[in-house]
Amino acid sequence: MAIYVLLGPPGVGKGTLAEMLCERFGFMHVSTGDILREEVRRGTDLGLRVKGYMDSGGLVPDEVIGAIIAGRLAEDDVQRRGCLLDGFPRTLPQATLFDRLIHDGAPALDRVLLLQADEELLLKRLTARRVCARCRAVFNVLFTPPRQEGVCDRCGGPLEQRRDDTDATARERLRVYGAQTEPLVRFYDERKLVLRFDAARDKNELLRAVCQALSLS
Ligand code: AP5
Ligand code: MG
Repeated sequence: MAIYVLLGPPGVGKGTLAEMLCERFGFMHVSTGDILREEVRRGTDLGLRVKGYMDSGGLVPDEVIGAIIAGRLAEDDVQRRGCLLDGFPRTLPQATLFDRLIHDGAPALDRVLLLQADEELLLKRLTARRVCARCRAVFNVLFTPPRQEGVCDRCGGPLEQRRDDTDATARERLRVYGAQTEPLVRFYDERKLVLRFDAARDKNELLRAVCQALSLS
């Protein structure tokens, strides 16, 4: 049973790749961003607590994320099928916490997949992203537009923009990534766990490169 971390800046395509890998190989997709957005949408106490951080492009406190991840990694489906962690860990304290969880019986970390693309492309991808309000399918008005403008190809639901995908907030998220998350590359490089991928290419080509590097078929 495998566990992989997807590391890379906002907009690089972590969610898109995770969906494809999970569909093909049956891993669970554990996206802290998706979990938090769902809490915000439902207006839970947790959602109310984290909304301000997310809207401003900052990070949610480590202890909040730690509780979410500890619970999720202990669940049956993750234990059985393995998972792709998308958006966690994102700070050095989160990486240390993750080590402790692994020690306490969570599945061991196999590989860190680092996705890379230049900032200009990331900003384009982020500001052009649209998400279905109903089924959460992801589109991009520049790169993968829906057949009918504003309408989801999959379920016919309305497409909306994520609140943090404005130009100003996207730039702040990229800055925060550089300051708080990029140090993790070195942390995992020292353990020889990092595989690097050029993510500025077609998503199917990227998928092929990742499958080859991980010997998945
Ligand atoms: P999160 O949801 O994790 O956002 P992110 O890391 O900023 O990444 P994105 O989801 O924006 O981008 P992505 O890499 O998934 O790209 P995607 O595949 O969608 O976090 C949001 C917030 O939650 C954070 O700011 C923070 O506040 C909080 N948070 C979450 N986790 C946290 C943690 N651990 N600690 C603290 N706070 C946390 O693709 C982007 C667009 O490009 C899409 O339109 C897609 O269609 C398109 N696209 C993708 N791949 C390609 C391709 N190959 N070719 C062309 N277009 C492509
Ligand atoms: Mg994402």
